[in-house]
Amino acid sequence: MALLIRGGTVVNADLSRRADVLVDGERIIAVGENLEAPAGAEIVDAGGAFVMPGGIDPHTHMELLFMGTVSADDFEWGTKAALSGGTTTIVDFCIPGQNQSLVDAYRDWRNKSEKAAGDYSYHLAVTSWSDQVERDMGEIVNTHGVNTFKHFMAYKGALMVDDDILFRSFKRCAELGAIALVHAENGDVVAQMQEDFIAQGKTGPEFHAYSRPPAVEGEAAQRAIVIADMAGCPLYVVHTSSKPAHEAIARARAEGKRVFGEPLIQHLVLDETDYLNKSWDHAAQRVMSPPFRPKSHQDSLWAGLQAGSLQVVATDHCSFTMEQKRIGKNDFRMIPNGTGGLEDRMPVLWSAGVNSGRLTPNEFVAATSANAARILNMYPQKGVIMPGADADIVIWDPKATKTISAKTQVSRIEYNVFEGFELTGLPVKVYLRGRLAAENGQVRAERGQGRFVSRRPLPAFAEAQRRLKANTAPKAVAR
Ligand code: URP
Ligand code: ZN
Ligand code: ZN
Ligand code: ZN
Repeated sequence: MALLIRGGTVVNADLSRRADVLVDGERIIAVGENLEAPAGAEIVDAGGAFVMPGGIDPHTHMELLFMGTVSADDFEWGTKAALSGGTTTIVDFCIPGQNQSLVDAYRDWRNKSEKAAGDYSYHLAVTSWSDQVERDMGEIVNTHGVNTFKHFMAYKGALMVDDDILFRSFKRCAELGAIALVHAENGDVVAQMQEDFIAQGKTGPEFHAYSRPPAVEGEAAQRAIVIADMAGCPLYVVHTSSKPAHEAIARARAEGKRVFGEPLIQHLVLDETDYLNKSWDHAAQRVMSPPFRPKSHQDSLWAGLQAGSLQVVATDHCSFTMEQKRIGKNDFRMIPNGTGGLEDRMPVLWSAGVNSGRLTPNEFVAATSANAARILNMYPQKGVIMPGADADIVIWDPKATKTISAKTQVSRIEYNVFEGFELTGLPVKVYLRGRLAAENGQVRAERGQGRFVSRRPLPAFAEAQRRLKANTAPKAVAR
């Protein structure tokens, strides 16, 4: 069926203009002024609101077995939460279990995601090294539509990999035209700091933050940047939360390196004082890695989004119920790491970013959708309002208001780290491939409507980096 969205201002990452948007089936087929409605088309009046590409959250963890428990939102409820807040595609981390192959993990994730109401793609995690891992990376890229591999430099004894594995895996990424992702924290230092605090009887959630100071993130980010440069693969630093990590990324980019940084909406608006709250529950709800930071780090992240040294805003949505958080009542090391935020990412970023004057509406679209699509190589299928693109469309009313409350959220947990935030600027209608998926925060999409988004390797920047590497490779002296 055809759908004509009339009377809005189309906001893409590069341009805003008054235009109608015509959709046929799952795709946008025309964008322009005064478009004719085909016979039988549904006509939606945008009423002067903004018409933007559906959001892409490049960092989520649905139904993930992590720290001995399973994150509370599964693909159905996670994607429904996403849709209610304007996010039509998520990129979830497929993390192999102990001794599980990458390809088996990928199959597990495909099964788990059949429930998804919104679209999804994956990053595959490399948590160990063997000939099979190396082979499987090739199969994952060449036949399973995933072009990104995640490496945890923290979570010692569980997911963490050392520099030896980083360099091997990054070289394999370069060979395959894949992008390396890192969780940048020096896991060896964190593990010792945790032990030291526990030995001193310091067991509260505030010591989660004290055991992971900004310096351990900055050091790891810098190390990953150097290793990726030597390997010749692009690097994407997930959940960049601190000034030292941001500065390492900004420096690398100024040197021409293909490095990207992803702040989370949580780190942009919440700070470390939450861990000093008298309520254990309040503090534990906010335990995630990296932890929330002092205000000066927030300022650096905002500046990075404005300057372009940081490109995308994610959530790292990995939600745990209060019962799950209380597993760590007597030892902060046992508190499952992670917070929610999928449904709040775009409205909170609009209020804190656009209304404050830090970001333009176009920069908002870049940070919530277009840049993720470009970096992860799903542009222009996703991330833009243009003919040929998937009809993932958000009608955004910059005057609509709401107060965030766990009581009305879609996510299955009983609290919200943004509780009480007053927002101005909300998605009023959200379309997923041409179908109404959410309206005024109410989800219309159903379980199973989401689809896997396949991504090819070697985006243009990776191809250029490959050529540069070849042209600057050490050459033998002819003797
Ligand atoms: O605390 C976090 N971030 N939990 C999810 C796993 C990860 O490190 O991204
Ligand atoms: Zn296969
Ligand atoms: Zn992480
Ligand atoms: Zn994560």
